[in-house]
Amino acid sequence: MLDVDFLELDLKNKRVLIREDLNVPMKKGKILSNARLLAALPTIKHAVDNGAEVTVMSHLGRPRENLSIRDQPEFSLKPVVDRLEVLSGLSFELVSNYIDGFVRGKADVTVLENVRLNLGESTNNQLLSKRLAALCDIYVMDAFACAHRAHSSTTGIIRYAPISCSGPLLRKELDALRKALYAPKKPMLAIVGGSKVSTKLAVLESLVNQLDQLIVGGGIANTFLAAKGFDIGRSLYENDLLEFAADLYKKINIPLPTDVVVASGIKSDAQIRICNVSDIRVEEMIVDFGPESISRLKDFIACAGTILWNGPIGVFEIDKFEEGTKQIAEAIASSRAFSLAGGGDTLAAIERYGVNSGISYSSTGGGAFLEYVGGQTLPAVQELANQHNSKEYLR
Ligand code: 3PG
Repeated sequence: MLDVDFLELDLKNKRVLIREDLNVPMKKGKILSNARLLAALPTIKHAVDNGAEVTVMSHLGRPRENLSIRDQPEFSLKPVVDRLEVLSGLSFELVSNYIDGFVRGKADVTVLENVRLNLGESTNNQLLSKRLAALCDIYVMDAFACAHRAHSSTTGIIRYAPISCSGPLLRKELDALRKALYAPKKPMLAIVGGSKVSTKLAVLESLVNQLDQLIVGGGIANTFLAAKGFDIGRSLYENDLLEFAADLYKKINIPLPTDVVVASGIKSDAQIRICNVSDIRVEEMIVDFGPESISRLKDFIACAGTILWNGPIGVFEIDKFEEGTKQIAEAIASSRAFSLAGGGDTLAAIERYGVNSGISYSSTGGGAFLEYVGGQTLPAVQELANQHNSKEYLR
């Protein structure tokens, strides 16, 4: 047990302050995915149903600290609060001035305006942590997706709140990660895609000793192809990581694509063709795996006992370049393996192809997921463990 069990606590008439990660992807003020909101709601509902005075706090984006929300309205949690009402049937109220205490309205849940507006949040300021702690009787850290941030609202507060504990979502995330990483059903397969090797260095290094099979996709595969000496035209790759890729080959077999989709550019009206990897022209760039490579990847998926998936195979946001990511998402969803998916792009792909029910666990974490898989201890989890003298969940 990491700490006291939130679900066992008597919450009646207690001021319960829940840190969630409601940092949803947005475009022009519109929410693009409800995944983080839906993941947070069971914890919030549990507190409401058990008679607590419920307050929720979260960040949204990266606003400037100590600049008012009027000066940067795009960082307001207002659209999130509106969406939470629709999704939950509960009433929510957003308050902006709360740091020295606030008067509760009649709503079921009070939401504190973007915590990153508070001076000292991102530096884990002690005074701010104490002021946030003074707003509650029980603090619940439920925001796995920002447990890698040592901020006042995620970490500093844990020491000062009368009772601090992990929330059900944070635990569920850690349990799923531990199941995949420490007790994997074999063979264990990781599919690591996305644009850059540099953002996944720790993950690749940490996984390599545990895996039976590693597959790389997206721009990451380009760097591995270049390291093998293939001429990849104008494809994006990282020249300074060729040596890293060459070293990784010595530790684990990494089957590379044999055929690829190439295009004249990353745009929907680009000319495309499918070719062998040794046949890419100088003016072309790789935008997806070809059918033969996708089929081989699906064979690995069909045999796996555990699948860890992070990052797309191609530039799937453009219909013409989506086949690799789409087919892989569908194959993982229909496999019998325990499958764990994480990262913003990966979740977007899962939503786009409607395969969520087939994935054993979709993590809400992006950076937090990568840091945990990469072998790091998350500061908020460390602080909870310190407070409760527990070693469980530490890496
Ligand atoms: C995320 O989206 O990964 C989390 O909400 C953390 O956001 P941050 O990278 O701005 O800290």
